[in-house]
Amino acid sequence: MKNLTSDSVAGIAVSAIKAMAMRAAKVEGAVSLTWGLPSFRTPEGIRRAVERALDNDPDIGKYTLPDGLRELRGAAAETHRAATGVAVDPDRNITIAAGNMEGIATLLRSLIDAGDEIVVTDPGFASHFIQIGLCGGRPVFWRLDETRGWALDLEALPGLLTDRTKAILLVTPSNPTGRIFTEAELREVGRIAAERGLVVILDDPYCHFTYENRDRYFNLSSVPELADHVAYLFTFSKCHAMSGWRLGYAVLPEWLKREVLKVHDATMICAPRISQIAGLAALSGEQAHLGAFEDRLAKRRELICARLDALPHVFDYVKPEGAYYVFPRIVAEHMDSYEFAIRLLEEARVAVTPGSAFGPTGEHHVRMAFCVEEEAIETAFDRIEAYFN
Ligand SMILES: Cc1ncc(COP(=O)(O)O)c(C=O)c1O
Repeated sequence: MKNLTSDSVAGIAVSAIKAMAMRAAKVEGAVSLTWGLPSFRTPEGIRRAVERALDNDPDIGKYTLPDGLRELRGAAAETHRAATGVAVDPDRNITIAAGNMEGIATLLRSLIDAGDEIVVTDPGFASHFIQIGLCGGRPVFWRLDETRGWALDLEALPGLLTDRTKAILLVTPSNPTGRIFTEAELREVGRIAAERGLVVILDDPYCHFTYENRDRYFNLSSVPELADHVAYLFTFSKCHAMSGWRLGYAVLPEWLKREVLKVHDATMICAPRISQIAGLAALSGEQAHLGAFEDRLAKRRELICARLDALPHVFDYVKPEGAYYVFPRIVAEHMDSYEFAIRLLEEARVAVTPGSAFGPTGEHHVRMAFCVEEEAIETAFDRIEAYFN
């Protein structure tokens, strides 16, 4: 039979994060720090709102408009205004996506022609690289400076931009490093993007997980002069413990929403209505869970850092400022991060994600997600300690 599958798809691998999670699921009793899947249950108020809608809303099982329920777009606009001080229009600027993965994929598809380039941080979020490739584009790696706590290297940015550059894609707080990029850094990225006629894409799952560094967090979409050059995407997955509901919202310049809507409609039609009802409850109901989740994650961050401190012969690390990942450098003897991760899984029954999945600079590192229960962190590190001591 002739080869029917697409060469461009055959040429990519499933993300290493999911590949390791699936591999770990086959190892009896393995503890997994691979996936950034928070242990928290979707809050009660959100669940009850959905229950009520299931019972009382005759439209609950129907499509919504492609850009989402008007009420949810209104609530998203209000949340965005409260967070940034910038008023956006629910009709012209906001679209509801089935999570940021779909939102970013749709946005990239709306921006990229074959051969176009998107600047991504290195290390950066592995799935972005795959998404860019699937659109026929090329991720251009912008190396972060580990010696400065994984800071942006602003001097290097102009040298990465070409006639094919369309966008600069950032995650802050960062996955996988936990770095919160500073206001000065982000403003400079915005300035360069505007000067060169580019878009800065902000993929933001972790804005509510900033611990004692809240004042460092800066949302670049709060700069009105950059309105035509910033696409901001928030996901409910992490902050509202709604990863399985598949819901996010995008705040876009009008010229971009117009294009994004075509791709979103052709792929999804709309985000599930039931999830949009849940999202509306998340934005308009009481918000105590945001702080409660963050407090719990803060304890887990202290725990994982204390356990890493006791293993200086295995790992060296930068304490994450936000999000719930730590990205230690492997100092124990090893070949590469993949070999190390497989060995740790098979011999110590602890799953971590090889750092090479997050870009060339990620080699010789691993990513550990500390959004799992404290007990899982303790067990993982008891095993790592026993294995290396
Ligand atoms: C940077 C980043 N973007 C997107 C996602 C996925 O978000 P969603 O569940 O909204 O698709 C994640 C999840 O880990 C992430 O870390």
